[in-house]
Amino acid sequence: MKTRFAIVIGASSGIGRELVRQLASEGTKVAAVARRTELLDALKVENPDRILTYSHDVTDFESAEKLFMQMTHDLGGLDLFIYNSGIMPVVEPNEYSFEKDQATVDVNVTGAVRWCNLAAERFLNTKSGTIIGLGSVAGDRGRSGSPVYNSSKAFLHTYMEALRNRLATSGVNVVTIKPGPVDTEMTQHLSMSKMSATKAAEIILSKRGKNGEFYLSPLHRAIFYVIKRVPSPIFRKLKI
Ligand SMILES: NC(=O)c1ccc[n+]([C@@H]2O[C@H](COP(=O)([O-])OP(=O)(O)OC[C@H]3O[C@@H](n4cnc5c(N)ncnc54)[C@H](OP(=O)(O)O)[C@@H]3O)[C@@H](O)[C@H]2O)c1
Repeated sequence: MKTRFAIVIGASSGIGRELVRQLASEGTKVAAVARRTELLDALKVENPDRILTYSHDVTDFESAEKLFMQMTHDLGGLDLFIYNSGIMPVVEPNEYSFEKDQATVDVNVTGAVRWCNLAAERFLNTKSGTIIGLGSVAGDRGRSGSPVYNSSKAFLHTYMEALRNRLATSGVNVVTIKPGPVDTEMTQHLSMSKMSATKAAEIILSKRGKNGEFYLSPLHRAIFYVIKRVPSPIFRKLKI
């Protein structure tokens, strides 16, 4: 499916940067949004004709609508909207930091709603388009390690499902992506096997024409099918 115009929110590093690179290289005009302008500038240099950059903090909820209008105008249209911004602060086992938790909710939840609502309303009117949201396998269960990150992704999964159901008759695809570990800044502190951001972006873009929820690997789909069904008292003992 050919994408002519796209917006990627959270485009300065990791999966988002790869999404922008791959979209631009297949001929899409893409608006790349994030806070770190120096990283966005470096990305733009790679494909200046096709990459437009916008400095924005998704917790600045007031300015989102004006920026959305500006970007769709600059692009000349919109076929694909990706909400990829996310943070996962390191949380110590006995830490209950409201500051970290609030920051996580602001970016992963409120920012997602602010931006995806704008895309949904536009696509409802144009009766076309795709919205992709980056969830996580972490959102499938309430793990002890990072309660609010897990919950923020569970929120995103349910919110995206609801958007999908709302927009089902309007020709709009809503895609939820549930990555497992991907090798990015977010996971630098974790020593485990990780998928490359390049591979993750390839798989995400391959889901554009579909409507539904997708793990990045078939193995994760099978594993989390089981994990979601493990009774809570047993899950607690597994410490995963
Ligand atoms: N890596 C993994 O293993 C993994 C697994 C499951 C799900 N995910 C999800 O995948 C998405 C991408 O993560 P990643 O692994 O690629 O991490 P990353 O390299 O840290 O990228 C995160 C992106 O979010 C942006 N962002 C963070 N706070 C923002 C804010 N206040 N305003 C605007 N943009 C903001 C960052 O841009 P600036 O800092 O420049 O603003 C950056 O572009 C996230 O939603 C994450 O939860 C990742």
